[in-house]
Amino acid sequence: MAVPVRDLCIVVGASNGFGRALAKTFAERFCAQTPAERRLHLVLVGRRQADLQTTSDACQPTGPARVDLTPVAEVDLANLDALDANVDRVLDTVTTNCRTLPDVVSPGLARYARATLILNAGTLGGLSLPVRDRSWRDLRTFFDVNFVAYTAFFTAFLKRVDRGVCSDHRTVVNVSSLLAVKALPNWGAYAPAKAARHMFAQVAAAEEDPAYTKVLSYSPGPLANDMQRTVRETLGDPEQKLHFTNMFDKGNLVSMEDSAHKAVDLILDNTFTSGCHIDYYD
Ligand SMILES: NC(=O)c1ccc[n+]([C@@H]2O[C@H](COP(=O)([O-])OP(=O)(O)OC[C@H]3O[C@@H](n4cnc5c(N)ncnc54)[C@H](OP(=O)(O)O)[C@@H]3O)[C@@H](O)[C@H]2O)c1
Repeated sequence: MAVPVRDLCIVVGASNGFGRALAKTFAERFCAQTPAERRLHLVLVGRRQADLQTTSDACQPTGPARVDLTPVAEVDLANLDALDANVDRVLDTVTTNCRTLPDVVSPGLARYARATLILNAGTLGGLSLPVRDRSWRDLRTFFDVNFVAYTAFFTAFLKRVDRGVCSDHRTVVNVSSLLAVKALPNWGAYAPAKAARHMFAQVAAAEEDPAYTKVLSYSPGPLANDMQRTVRETLGDPEQKLHFTNMFDKGNLVSMEDSAHKAVDLILDNTFTSGCHIDYYD
């Protein structure tokens, strides 16, 4: 008997902003591009249940329901004491709970054809101070959320979503920034964390067989959203502040939907070179 095929996508930082746009676009594109018998298990990770519910509602495309949604709330990346347990909670929904879903394959067979992990969660880390005025304690806290927690999900995914769980192909997406590859004044927390994330992704790409595992760092461009408003309002460097204000005034910021479409097309087309850094404007 033919077994229905299932794909997996986990979005860490799915509660709002670009993460919500990515989750919604992934569900839409998946349903538009894959055969009707194929299903998507979409795991939405964030802090607040209510925000994840809003993302869930946006991710169920009209027409025949082909998206199984699993929100995993109360995941605060700043809480390192709970990090292992939170990573396990997320991956348990993949390796354990999916076995109870109705169209699951026989024991011993891989449960997903393709698996994607999107690491989107991130913070700005303060933009008012130059490097000389930064405190290492604040930087350590910032790196906990933006780099340490990122590595925890990244490594656990590679270990646990193995060939027994995912048969054909898996992808890890690091939501990056131009600041990962270009130094600008006042980004003394954000830029080094994004650079570290990209290098970690590149090392993984060098280690893993790209026929099975690919890694993408995607820089979404300056988005028309709340994070970008905070940039305009708090950036200590007058030149950049003017630049971003002008972009906003002229309507030149990138829409989250456009950037999410580009990211999801890259993931689903799967023609990028593993370990590369691709910008929305590329
Ligand atoms: N906005 C831009 O112009 C821009 C440009 C380049 C790159 N990016 C990158 O795009 C990604 C998404 O940013 P965004 O623009 O959508 O900003 P955002 O709306 O502030 O989204 C940040 C995401 O990170 C999550 N997050 C923050 N701290 C967390 C914590 N301690 N524990 C768990 N989750 C946490 C937020 O969850 P909550 O909802 O719980 O706060 C939210 O889902 C980030 O990695 C950012 O660096 C953004």
